[in-house]
Amino acid sequence: MAYQPRSHYLVDIPTIPDERGKLAVLEHNGAVLFDIKRVYYLFDVPAGTSRGGHAHRNLDQLLIAISGSFTVDVEGLDDKSSYVLNRPNQALYIGSMVWREMRDFSSNAVCLVLASTVYMEADYIRNYDEFARLNRSIS
Ligand code: TYD
Repeated sequence: MAYQPRSHYLVDIPTIPDERGKLAVLEHNGAVLFDIKRVYYLFDVPAGTSRGGHAHRNLDQLLIAISGSFTVDVEGLDDKSSYVLNRPNQALYIGSMVWREMRDFSSNAVCLVLASTVYMEADYIRNYDEFARLNRSIS
């Protein structure tokens, strides 16, 4: 899949339940429509702390609340949305040029992130005014 700039949407992760519990599958061309180059996770986030506060120039990501819950505020071109992630079999896709902030982490929250590129600081837009200007310039 070509990356989808400025989009954000929820993805159901195929899950196989049986009497031993549930097994959720993140598979290329299943729930994941990009090549995964990096996996990282956030945990032990202190109560009241926000994370994120940036956009990416060219990056696909899937965020999953593997444990606990948190809220993700996103802003694309003209839209703002908030997603509460609290199910390990649901992911939030965030494409390029989407400003995001994560907040209200529960004490046991683990935010797993699948990403389409390795870490590159140059891919970040950490200044909101720069994000807004770039977003307008490519609309
Ligand atoms: P940052 O992306 O700002 O965290 P968040 O968006 O979750 O609030 O990253 C925090 C620090 O970790 C920053 O110094 C960059 C570093 N980092 C890496 O070295 N590799 C990575 O893959 C990521 C995501 C961050």
